Amino acid sequence: MHYRQLGRTGWKVSDISFGAWAIGGGWGSASDHESLAALHRAVECGVNFIDTADVYGDGRSERLIAQLKKNRRDEVIVATKAGRRLPRQSVEGYSRQNLTAWVEDSLRNLSTDAVDLLQLHCPPTALYDHAEVFGMLDDLVEAGKLRYYGVSVEKVDEALKAIEYPEVQSVQIIFNCFRQRPADRFLDQAKIKRVGVLARVPLASGLLSGKLRADTRFAADDHRNFNRHGEAFDVGETFSGVDYNVALEAVEQIRGLLPPGISMSQFALRWILMFEGVTCAIPGAKLPHQVNDNCGASDLPPLSAEAMAGVRRIYEERIAALVEHRW
Ligand SMILES: NC(=O)c1ccc[n+]([C@@H]2O[C@H](COP(=O)([O-])OP(=O)(O)OC[C@H]3O[C@@H](n4cnc5c(N)ncnc54)[C@H](OP(=O)(O)O)[C@@H]3O)[C@@H](O)[C@H]2O)c1
Repeated sequence: MHYRQLGRTGWKVSDISFGAWAIGGGWGSASDHESLAALHRAVECGVNFIDTADVYGDGRSERLIAQLKKNRRDEVIVATKAGRRLPRQSVEGYSRQNLTAWVEDSLRNLSTDAVDLLQLHCPPTALYDHAEVFGMLDDLVEAGKLRYYGVSVEKVDEALKAIEYPEVQSVQIIFNCFRQRPADRFLDQAKIKRVGVLARVPLASGLLSGKLRADTRFAADDHRNFNRHGEAFDVGETFSGVDYNVALEAVEQIRGLLPPGISMSQFALRWILMFEGVTCAIPGAKLPHQVNDNCGASDLPPLSAEAMAGVRRIYEERIAALVEHRW
């Protein structure tokens, strides 16, 4: 496992880290026993950074991470999020009272005195014009409730606005073979400002593992079923916002670029790590064997120039027109 500096925090985090949404809920059934095994496997592979949120299974994901930490001596840095408990997203909802209450809930779930990294959870674009919200986060740091804070965003433009705030340490954004705009517009800016970048949805919700088929069925409580057209939250969070059948064809083309001996998930994750401005990818996983596979990407040699050009070509020919203008 390799490690990269996260912003100005002084932390060096595993370049393949762990996304803990699926172990909370929203991806069909998950067994806590297996989820814990996946978390332990991640730490055994060298993962020292986990991304979660208060709303993943209404605290279930945070509580599983607390259980992991109780049983391990290793240092594990936990990034959680706040804001999605609002019944309807609004700038006013990010009040001092709400932020404080959400943080207190996360502290309880995580069994800790201070949140390592709190991310605003895809707040409305207008929030970035409200410096007072960032002032409230500064106060929570001052009060010892947060070590650091950052944001999770939907759009590149939001990411660019967020890093104008001097204490924002990290930006979490969708970045993968099917979502390349951050590489063109954002990663260099983040690097200049020494802001960490967490690449989320790195496998396009499992598509880039290469295992999904046109006839794959998802459980009723899996967002790959219930949010395929953005019915519950931003459609970009499901399959990266790419039409399922278009994506499957692109995946088959990407498969043709794989060097021998590496899995498609590893290829997709190694592609992300080719970009210096990325701090880490945070693939989600519910099973230990998926964690093993994903962590293997960290130690792979760099992808060839031909492979990188091939992914770019497939993106430009099949995907870009569908996503570039949206996020
Ligand atoms: N708004 C936000 O801030 C936000 C939104 C989305 C995600 N996130 C964060 O980003 C993390 C990652 O994104 P994501 O979980 O949405 O998507 P992802 O990492 O692109 O895909 C994860 C899913 O792919 C499958 N998978 C993972 N590794 C695999 C492997 N090696 N082989 C085969 N299948 C594999 C698993 O699903 P199955 O086994 O069920 O197929 C897994 O749940 C989340 O866990 C969360 O922490 C944040």
